[in-house]
Amino acid sequence: MRISAPVFAVLVLVLSALPADAVVGGRAAPVTPWAVALFDAAGNFFCGGALIGPDKVVTAAHCTVERTALGDRDRLPADLTVVAGRADLDAKDGRTAKVAGIWRHPAFTDVAAGDDVATLTLAAALPYRPVRVAEAVPGRTATVYGWGRTGELRAPSRTLRQVDVPIRSDAECAARVPDYRPDGMLCAGFPEGGRDACEGDSGGPLTVAGELVGVVSYGRGCARPDQPGVYTRLSRYQDRI
Ligand code: ARG
Repeated sequence: MRISAPVFAVLVLVLSALPADAVVGGRAAPVTPWAVALFDAAGNFFCGGALIGPDKVVTAAHCTVERTALGDRDRLPADLTVVAGRADLDAKDGRTAKVAGIWRHPAFTDVAAGDDVATLTLAAALPYRPVRVAEAVPGRTATVYGWGRTGELRAPSRTLRQVDVPIRSDAECAARVPDYRPDGMLCAGFPEGGRDACEGDSGGPLTVAGELVGVVSYGRGCARPDQPGVYTRLSRYQDRI
């Protein structure tokens, strides 16, 4: 498709007027010690996670697989560093922990097929209060946290952001998400879009009243109308994580 110069100019204006907030449509989050950031061996941030025990982090299964030009490669515990108690990724506050082990749901193949959950066992306990896992109730307002993109075409954020999104009913999710699996997934977002998680938020926490109900898994674009974000329903995996 060819785009004429005036149309391009308008597009640039519209895109630059979108709110500049990670996660999309959100606000700066305070230091949230149970919301952790995962770094690879090269020191690059790549996913979020949540501290569910002194030495245990839950994240997305797809965060434990590295996509490379040559295909998928399992990330190795020795390559990972967990950063907790730090909202600004360029700051030095909080704590870091090495990873001793990775458990990935054995049925995981692809985000759209579900079971997008993994845990990291830390080499040492972190001195922060973990977040409790709870059931997701449709209609409740949930909060998603992350350092991901602030819009589909925007850069990831270096500072932690949060945004509130309503948990939708399974019928609504099934109507909008192909292959929706109510047992292991939940979805959240406004019919009109505008607020959502985005690339880079994966593995990060979705909470209701301070309790963890989901892990950022996937979405079609970010914050689009009628495209709720899809999260791993953690209550379903509580006995395994
Ligand atoms: N798969 C993404 C990641 O790896 C998360 C995407 C979430 N998207 C959304 N629209 N809720 O960071």
